[in-house]
Amino acid sequence: MKQVEQNILNDKNALAKKLSAMGRVAVLLGGDSAEREVSLQSGAAILSALQNLSVDAFAMDIGSNAIEALEQDRPDHAFIALHGGAGEDGRIQALLGYMGIPYTGSAVNASAHAMDKLRCKYLWRGMGLSTADFCELDADSDWAEIMTRLGGSVMVKPASEGSSIGMAPAHSADELQKAFVEASKYDKCVIAERLIRGAEFTVAVLSDEVLPAIKLETDNQFYDYDAKYISDETRYLCPCGLPEDKEQELKALAKRAFDSLGCKDWGRVDVMADEQGKFYVLEVNTVPGMTSHSLVPMAAKAAGKDFEHLVAQVLYSSAINH
Ligand SMILES: Nc1ncnc2c1ncn2[C@@H]1O[C@H](COP(=O)(O)OP(=O)(O)O)[C@@H](O)[C@H]1O
Ligand SMILES: [Mg+2]
Repeated sequence: MKQVEQNILNDKNALAKKLSAMGRVAVLLGGDSAEREVSLQSGAAILSALQNLSVDAFAMDIGSNAIEALEQDRPDHAFIALHGGAGEDGRIQALLGYMGIPYTGSAVNASAHAMDKLRCKYLWRGMGLSTADFCELDADSDWAEIMTRLGGSVMVKPASEGSSIGMAPAHSADELQKAFVEASKYDKCVIAERLIRGAEFTVAVLSDEVLPAIKLETDNQFYDYDAKYISDETRYLCPCGLPEDKEQELKALAKRAFDSLGCKDWGRVDVMADEQGKFYVLEVNTVPGMTSHSLVPMAAKAAGKDFEHLVAQVLYSSAINH
């Protein structure tokens, strides 16, 4: 990115001036995925920030009617605040691209790839990027053999869900099979990963910048739906408490994972450490939560950028990287 553009991204007032020339911006929110409620909150927060910045922004609730909604009230630019499903897996991105409407965040290919945890792991394995050992499960899997191969304890997950939905740890062949049946309700592709027992982090990427890492702590069995959205007991540490060199290593790993998929504008990379402190990438989120207590806003704040600045930066970087 050119220095002059970098300077604009770091200056909220300069950004606001640029955004006022962008015309009508639709904040796409809602959607019909399991994450609809979170998206409504993210979208409302983004809309209010854009309006505070004097952007001509309005909300567009996207259900099964995306084509009609966009045709009837065609915006000059779309801010995608849709989590999961068609809003995050490349479908809405393809539609907007087809209609010639520029939008925030990763394009079709990167969005689709990031949504598929199995294919992410194949890619990361191929390029030597650290991710937990894994295998794809099916009804005929040899449960006992898989448990032995993956170290005796695994995490089972649908390949294309979010918000920890359909996931469970398993510590025996019997539990593995049960977890597979449960995860299969959400996706026909299910994976088992070696269970990592250590600290959990998340790292936000904003334009070319990697924001300070956040450490997540929960007393639940893992960072499940309750720990993410309901419990008041989940702890978020930023600064994350790692020594400087380890945090740099974590940030570099996260940026490599983000870049490997061809992601752009913004995203959030989930990473775990084992008991020896070795990092493993879990996944890349291309439309992370943007509610007032979400993680990307927390990391941006630690980097000196308030919520409005963050929203402005995502929108402006999508305009210059279009
Ligand atoms: N291999 C693993 N070992 C231990 N815990 C895991 C593993 N994979 C995922 N988890 C836990 O499950 C949570 C959700 O997993 P993740 O892959 O990020 O999927 P989601 O898209 O649902 O957020 C993580 O935040 C972490 O707490
Ligand atoms: Mg995650």
